[in-house]
Amino acid sequence: MPNDPYLDASVAWRIKSGNLEMREAGYRSTEEAILSSGLATEVVGLISAGKEADVYLTGYKGAPLAVKVYRLYRTSHRGGGPIKLDSTGWLAAREFEMARQAWKGGVKVPPPARRVENMFSMRYLGDESGPAPRLKDVEPEEPRVMMAMVLEGVRCLARAGVVHADLSAYNILVHGSQPWFIDFSEAIRVDRTGDAPWRRLHEASEALRSGLNSLNGYFGRYGLEIDVEDTVSDIVRSLDRFGVL
Ligand SMILES: Nc1ncnc2c1ncn2[C@@H]1O[C@H](COP(=O)(O)OP(=O)(O)OP(=O)(O)O)[C@@H](O)[C@H]1O
Ligand SMILES: [Mg+2]
Repeated sequence: MPNDPYLDASVAWRIKSGNLEMREAGYRSTEEAILSSGLATEVVGLISAGKEADVYLTGYKGAPLAVKVYRLYRTSHRGGGPIKLDSTGWLAAREFEMARQAWKGGVKVPPPARRVENMFSMRYLGDESGPAPRLKDVEPEEPRVMMAMVLEGVRCLARAGVVHADLSAYNILVHGSQPWFIDFSEAIRVDRTGDAPWRRLHEASEALRSGLNSLNGYFGRYGLEIDVEDTVSDIVRSLDRFGVL
């Protein structure tokens, strides 16, 4: 359908972005996968090409929607051909569930909509001019207020039973002057059995410590510093319902 208006737009976009050749499955076949899954009715373009997944701006019956697509292949570090990953459906399901858990707990995350195989859709944060910027690229008018909102978000996540294990100014988008948490690919559930509680809490405190240290790298620009040890022990204590630590 060469005259379809959205294809024209996407072709124009692809020429502009110039990074299409790197696409593993090919932009066109991912576009087909998104459309045939029913997650979206239109694919507008690529927002981000990450290590394990790509994020697309799509439309569902006229409303914008972000779709995250986990890669099916990973390049072998030892040379040779790409390795097919069997687990990408599982990775997408896991991230989708973590984001849902956070969203149900009232945390500012783009509400996840649906998951199909290695893809899931969620609210698009941004406007016609582009996606919401990452915290890393933003200079807040009131850095202290931004830091307080981010910390409240981290606490709210913990109350929802989730510790974001890849917290940094890269995985927070600033939308409507507020911080929104994204990328729950490595998140840890801290509210239910599975692993022994002490092991989960230990893992959670390590993850929190490293995430807060990384945020300090950003807030340090403004002469601000999160008290990492205090915050970690406070949150972990609140999670340690059985007193195992
Ligand atoms: N809901 C959304 N609305 C708008 N933009 C989004 C949304 N979700 C993700 N993005 C954009 O896509 C980028 C990558 O998303 P995410 O961090 O979830 O993927 P990733 O695979 O971890 O990428 P990387 O490997 O680079 O860390 C974000 O930095 C952001 O710019
Ligand atoms: Mg990320």
